[in-house]
Amino acid sequence: QIYQASCTAPVNIATLKYWGKRDTKLNLPTNSSISVTLSQDDLRTLTTASCSSSFEQDTLYLNGEPHPIDTPRTLACLADLRSLRAALESKDDKLPKLSTFKLRIVSENNFPTAAGLASSAAGFAALISAIAKLYELPQNSSELSMIARKGSGSACRSLFGGYVAWEMGELEDGSDSKAVEVAPVNHWPEMQALICVVCDVKKDVSSTSGMQLTVATSDLFQERIKNVVPKRFIEMKKSIVDKDFAKFAELTIKDSNSFHSCCLDSYPPIFYMNDTSKKIIKLVNLLNEAAGKIIAAYTFDAGPNAVIYYLKENENQVLGLFNKVFGHLEGWEKAESLKSKFEIL
Ligand code: DP6
Repeated sequence: QIYQASCTAPVNIATLKYWGKRDTKLNLPTNSSISVTLSQDDLRTLTTASCSSSFEQDTLYLNGEPHPIDTPRTLACLADLRSLRAALESKDDKLPKLSTFKLRIVSENNFPTAAGLASSAAGFAALISAIAKLYELPQNSSELSMIARKGSGSACRSLFGGYVAWEMGELEDGSDSKAVEVAPVNHWPEMQALICVVCDVKKDVSSTSGMQLTVATSDLFQERIKNVVPKRFIEMKKSIVDKDFAKFAELTIKDSNSFHSCCLDSYPPIFYMNDTSKKIIKLVNLLNEAAGKIIAAYTFDAGPNAVIYYLKENENQVLGLFNKVFGHLEGWEKAESLKSKFEIL
């Protein structure tokens, strides 16, 4: 007999960035962060987990390709899930001993993995959700987010849709470092995201190593985690609850700038943005100046790709200018009225 369950998890884009670990094994961050989850129609991972007494080893397929399960992070996630299942089985003799069976995990993205978008976040979140469903675990999303966090920090935020906070926590064992919902997606349905894929090659400095170089060498980073982020975390959550776009956008832009400044302040410096990224920043500034108020926000992760947030009511202005400036480029599909859109510049 084969037992099976499937789950999807969305991609999330941080508007207040996680950058820096205080514990690299448990993936405990040096600051709290906030993200907006993108629409699952556009960007998500679908994972099917199955197990059987007849399977000989744990196997993982990512977009059709077999992958070894040998990274400490993936092994830690599987061990946590199995021990939660074993605890259930020890209380109820009638339950099949799934915790002792080998797993087969099949994971597919509905977007190109090479696009340099945050695929590991959706990947680990879908993996944890699918196995938790297979094992019929009673743990809620916040509790499961702590397992996803061990896979990849940002993955803990993909356990929820909508607006999500990852509370950094203080405890050494990480039991208070988890994701919580700030607001569901239908709280602010006017919010739109435009994704500009500036470059679809893999980044040269991974987030994992980049952030630890910043922690070890940047003075600006110390200022960021002590005096900037704690206040911004509270203000950004409030701007979401109040649906105050201008405030939300200002904080999002400032946090992207602060994060990339800390990268530049690392030694040797790390550059994630390129000339096209800088053009996008200028364009958003122009849009906001011309409108006389903030109608668009940009944010960049550990790569040159941009995510632009705007409200539906300003769609014509925002997409109009982007189409005008980038429309002639090969690969640019006309930005249309979609919750999130995928473009190659
Ligand atoms: C810039 O979650 O990929 O996207 O925990 O080492 O797997 P690991 O790092 P990862 O880092 C994400 C960094 C970021 C900001 C963010 O998503 O908050």
